[in-house]
Amino acid sequence: MTRADALAYWTNPDRETFVAEQDGAVLGTYYLKPNQLGGGAHVANCGYMTAADAQNRGIARAMATHSLGHAKERGFTAMQFNFVIASNTRAIHLWESLGFTTLCRLPAAFIHPTTGPTDALVMFKTF
Ligand SMILES: CC(C)(COP(=O)(O)OP(=O)(O)OC[C@H]1O[C@@H](n2cnc3c(N)ncnc32)[C@H](O)[C@@H]1OP(=O)(O)O)[C@@H](O)C(=O)NCCC(=O)NCCS
Repeated sequence: MTRADALAYWTNPDRETFVAEQDGAVLGTYYLKPNQLGGGAHVANCGYMTAADAQNRGIARAMATHSLGHAKERGFTAMQFNFVIASNTRAIHLWESLGFTTLCRLPAAFIHPTTGPTDALVMFKTF
């Protein structure tokens, strides 16, 4: 994916995009959107990224906490993560600590660039 494609995806008009910043520096970003259209639009979906040099400082926890509060304010009643890579133990630890549970495991759904076929998790939290 090119930088332009990634930016277009992250800031698509179908979602709200936020940044975590300190002293003018962007330390992280997330988006919030409906997970599905129509009958599934009451379930939120988010994506989060922390800058490489700001990892392990609680930035993603702060963004996720903000997103859960904002999703509730927007009227969403649950949040779903559709594709959490099973080897992403940092993210899984974080989502579980915020009350998400794993609903299912998609076998070898992701081809990791270095380790190859890897499971992906569907994680869910009701508000
Ligand atoms: C996943 C990601 C968003 C986490 O961001 P972060 O700002 O470093 O996360 P935080 O500092 O808020 O929290 C990290 C937590 O994981 C823990 N942790 C760190 N390394 C870990 C590991 N290898 N295994 C398990 N837990 C780990 C930390 O102790 C911390 O938990 P705590 O708050 O209970 O102490 C970041 O690594 C990232 O941008 N990754 C690439 C994109 C991505 O994977 N997004 C999520 C997709 S589901």
